Amino acid sequence: MAANNSKYMTQQVFIVGYGDIGRRVAKLFDSKTTTVSGLARSLASAAQMKLDGVIAFQADLDDLHGLSNLKLTNSLLFYFAPPPATGTNDTRMSNFLTHLDDSNLPAKIIYISTSGVYGDQAGQRVTEDTPTNPGADRSRRRLDAEQQLTQYVEKRAIDLVILRVSGIYGPGRLPEKRIRDGVPVLHEELAPKTNRIHADDLARICIAAADYGLNGEIYNVSDGCHSNMTRYFFQVADFLNLPRPPTLDWKEAECAISKGMLSYLRESRRMDNRKMLSELRIKLKYPDLSTGLAQMVSLYHRPNS
Ligand SMILES: NC(=O)c1ccc[n+]([C@@H]2O[C@H](COP(=O)([O-])OP(=O)(O)OC[C@H]3O[C@@H](n4cnc5c(N)ncnc54)[C@H](OP(=O)(O)O)[C@@H]3O)[C@@H](O)[C@H]2O)c1
Repeated sequence: MAANNSKYMTQQVFIVGYGDIGRRVAKLFDSKTTTVSGLARSLASAAQMKLDGVIAFQADLDDLHGLSNLKLTNSLLFYFAPPPATGTNDTRMSNFLTHLDDSNLPAKIIYISTSGVYGDQAGQRVTEDTPTNPGADRSRRRLDAEQQLTQYVEKRAIDLVILRVSGIYGPGRLPEKRIRDGVPVLHEELAPKTNRIHADDLARICIAAADYGLNGEIYNVSDGCHSNMTRYFFQVADFLNLPRPPTLDWKEAECAISKGMLSYLRESRRMDNRKMLSELRIKLKYPDLSTGLAQMVSLYHRPNS
């Protein structure tokens, strides 16, 4: 496993935003040789960190007060906290960076951004050289976070690697409720091209980015399988033995589908993952949705059910 070769093995690891991916990343470090600390907002997440043997910091990145006692010196820092829900700036990132002082700096930052920063690319292949073109505020906030980090590290001895991550799926992260509720999707021939990554592969990619990601580099993160969003819901429905969602044309969708979902449906792109595979030296465990779903059979299907 990549974590065993990590040059940060004997250093401190700090995970800002200790949620699902943070937990998966923390598990990849050997607790005998690495001290992992995490930051989250809720009591429940702080309790989870303690259960996982992670040093817990409970603080709210929206609040300028609880952020001054973080011990980051020379650490490998994973920043996984999402931006706030509104606006075009990531004010949580600004708060976080404002509270770092030059005597308490991490050695390297791995930032999870989103493939959404490329916006709509009309189904075309997107490499890391494709200009960003965010079409929704949620992606503008991510681009803002990338830019804040880039400017911050420029003046300091901190390495930065940005991962532009496509849709995450995995155990506990399937759109089961949506499918059970019969929420409609677009007719397949109208559906945008979408990309995915299994949560466990993403966690391994985060470690690989720490090991091999070059300072200042951006990596697209995806399993490289380009499907469309409707096919995704169909495949998951089939896997769960649930009826496939009803399909609509655009006119119907504009009345029946939430604004938030429509903004995803208006963006189509095929993420090129070749740089990730070669430079981060990663071999995916789940190179397509079928393999990823097969891993979850025992979780979602009891014997004889
Ligand atoms: N879903 C996708 O398909 C997708 C695609 C690309 C990128 N991403 C991004 O990937 C990252 C990791 O995903 P994930 O699944 O691990 O997310 P997650 O499970 O929702 O975890 C997010 C973490 O951030 C913490 N957090 C949120 N707001 C905070 C605040 N104001 N102050 C302090 N901590 C705060 C949460 O703490 P509490 O639990 O205590 O609230 C939680 O620990 C996220 O930024 C996500 O948006 C997701």
